[in-house]
Parts: sequence; C-alpha cells; structure tokens
Amino acid sequence: MIDITHRQFSDRLETAFHAWQPKAHHVVQTLQEGTHAYLDYTGWWDYPRTQGFALAADIRAAVNRVPVYYDTVIVVGIGGSYLGTRAVVDAQNALYPEHRTHRPSPYKPVLYAGHNWSTAELLEVLDVIREKNPVVNVISKSGATSETAAAFQWIRQAMETRFGPEETKSRIWVTTDATKGPLKEQATHFGYPCFSVPDDIGGRFSVLTAVGLLPLCLAGYDIEALLRGAHDMFTEIKQRPTAVADYAAYRRAAWATDLRMEVMAYADPRFRTFIEWWKQLFGESEGKADKGLFPVGVQYPTDLHSVGQYLQEGCPSFIETFFRIEADGTQILKVPAFPATQHANLQRLCGRTFAELNDIAWRATYEAHSNRGISCLELALPRFDMTGLGAAFAFFETACAVSAILLDVHPFNQPGVEDYKQRMLAKL
Ligand code: PA5
Repeated sequence: MIDITHRQFSDRLETAFHAWQPKAHHVVQTLQEGTHAYLDYTGWWDYPRTQGFALAADIRAAVNRVPVYYDTVIVVGIGGSYLGTRAVVDAQNALYPEHRTHRPSPYKPVLYAGHNWSTAELLEVLDVIREKNPVVNVISKSGATSETAAAFQWIRQAMETRFGPEETKSRIWVTTDATKGPLKEQATHFGYPCFSVPDDIGGRFSVLTAVGLLPLCLAGYDIEALLRGAHDMFTEIKQRPTAVADYAAYRRAAWATDLRMEVMAYADPRFRTFIEWWKQLFGESEGKADKGLFPVGVQYPTDLHSVGQYLQEGCPSFIETFFRIEADGTQILKVPAFPATQHANLQRLCGRTFAELNDIAWRATYEAHSNRGISCLELALPRFDMTGLGAAFAFFETACAVSAILLDVHPFNQPGVEDYKQRMLAKL
C-alpha cells in the first residue's frame, strides 16, 4: 500500500544500504514475533486488530450519546497527544473551510490549545467557547504536562462560566492514564467521561488509540476507515515487509555514511501537519545519545523558492525522501491561455493541467537533487483519504521503531524532553 517507487543512492550509501537491509528485515520480524527488547512499549503494533476496532465501536457509541448540541471540538494537548489528530483534520478537511459557504464541510471545526503558551491562541479559543457550542477533549497521558494542564484549567473555567458546572460535565471529555495522574484525579472529581491511553503505547505512537479516535469521531471523521487503512498496512508489513524495512535501512545507511538530516518532501499543502507528526515521531524517537537524523519537512514547489537553493547547492549532509500522494480526487484544472504576451516559458504551460505540472515539477526536482549526488528515495501513498492516512501512520510508526532500533537507541522514551521541563520548573 505504500511502495518505494524510485530510489537513487550515492555509491557509498548504496553499499551501506545493502549492509543494513537484512538487519532491518530482521528487526521487522522481531516486531511481528514479539521477540524484541521493547515489548512493554509496542502496544501500537497491530493495534487496530488487537483493540482498535472494538475501541472505535465504544467511542462511536459514546459520541452518539452526547446529550448536548455541539458544533465545535476543542482539542487540548501537546506533542503526540494532539499532532496525529491535527494531521488527519488538516489532510481531510478543506484548506479554507470557513469560506466554503456553497459546499459546507461535513466535519465540525476543530480548534487546538495546550500546545504552547500563546495568550493570543488561548483568547481565540475562549472567544469560541463564548460564542459557539463546543465540546472539549483534553488529552494527556501523564496528566501533568504544564502547557496542557494550564490551558485546560482556563478552558474548564470558561466552559463552566458559559454552560454551568452541570452541563460542562457533558462537554468535557478526558483522555489520560486509566488509573493515575492529576488529570485522572480531576476527571474523577468533576465526573467527566474518560477514555484511557494504553500503558504500552507512548504519545507519538498513539494516534490510532483513543488519543486520536475520540476527537476525530467527535468532529465527524470516519475513524473506522482510518483503522482499516492501518490494519491493512500492518497486514501488508507482515506479508511483505520490504518497503518498511528498506526505508529504515536507507535511513540507517544515511547515518552510517555521515549524513545528518532527512528532508521529507511533499507536494500537497494539506499534508503539512502530517509531516509535523512525522517530524515528531522520528525526532523524539531517534534523537538520543548524540545520534539520529534531524527530520525536516519541505513542501514543493513552495519551498523550492525558499530553501530550494540550499538543497541544490548547500551542504549535502542530508538524504531526501519524496513522499508522493497519488490520486486525491480533485478536479482537473488546466492553465488557460496567456493573452497579451508571447513569453515562451509561459506559453509552454498553456493547456497543461495543474496536476500534470505538479508531477513534472516533482520529477524535475527529484532529478536535479539526485543528479547533484543527494541520495533520494520516493515513497508513494496511493490513497489520499482516511484509509490512506491510517496506512501512512502504521507504516511510519513501524519504520521509526525499526530505524531507531538499528541506530541502537531506545525508540520509545524521550529523556531529553525532561531537561527543559526541570529547568523551567526551577525558574517558577
Ligand atoms: O511522544 C510523546 O510521548 C510526547 O510527545 C507526548 O505525547 C507529549 O509530551 C505529551 O505528553 P502527555 O500526553 O503526557 O501530556
């Protein structure tokens, strides 16, 4: 379902790739067999089959029983507790849904809070609480993350002011640890409905659990399709692990040949937040012990007119992955004729479809970068819908675990994040 459609490596990387390829296949096998060293952290592997579909049925039933009218969803969370949801929303919704009066979006608007200290963003969310009819889903596995906890207290107060304490109980949903933590304590105290984050699934691997499924279901997204796509991908990896293992081996070979970044290129602007999710997944999983490729996202052709110069002629310390998304079902638009000019380059565009031009620009960029000696690989995702996204989540989660294990770092912890937290607490 996700395939490597092109690859062109430098001789050095090609040699290293062949050395790491069998090891990558072996690690995928240990994930399947449950014989790796991280068993306590791999609940995400095959999760749709083991728990996801049953959970989705529970979530849908709960959402169908929401006893109040609501028109907006506010997601309060940070890192792995919100990025997956936002990736799906931004990929599936219109880019400018508020301007689509003739064809309204089938989804409820989703707002975000608790992922920064921005007064401006919180004030906008508070306006929505005053003027619309929101439900809130606060998501924090630890329940103690400062950004999320502080924003949630504001939001909880604003909800109580607007709706009163009793109705607020139907409008605030909590996703946290099943038994412990400050958020669990608050949920129990106030009587908010609760879903839990499994012990053996870390934040950045949790989009297919209640962490992603509940807010997406509240906002009207087809969570069953998301799970089906992920399930099909896990099944595919079990039967045909080549793409996932090769992608992990290519990353490991890049590190072994002194490259230090992975540039992930994509063309559709709706995929921007998915790439943010990918950045967090790989950055937080691999960036340890002075190791790991720094994950960078670029949107083409937009970024060819900003960092394109660097990629073509700057320090060649990166590999470049072209993440291509096929058939997004959009209409065929052609470039019309240019009146009043005979400019030769512009005349060449006439009559071409935007999709065709996008494709040509993509190929030209791949060629330009691989010809300068950058090792490039193209991954193709055949469907730009909920099943495609589910497949992409499963693919990258698996590849990330394999890649980190090959790098000999713990894929599922993030000790480095604690340092800034402790220093911040000391300053309070
Ligand atoms: O991947 C992770 O574990 C982190 O990015 C967490 O998701 C993030 O720090 C938020 O943590 P919590 O859900 O405990 O608030």
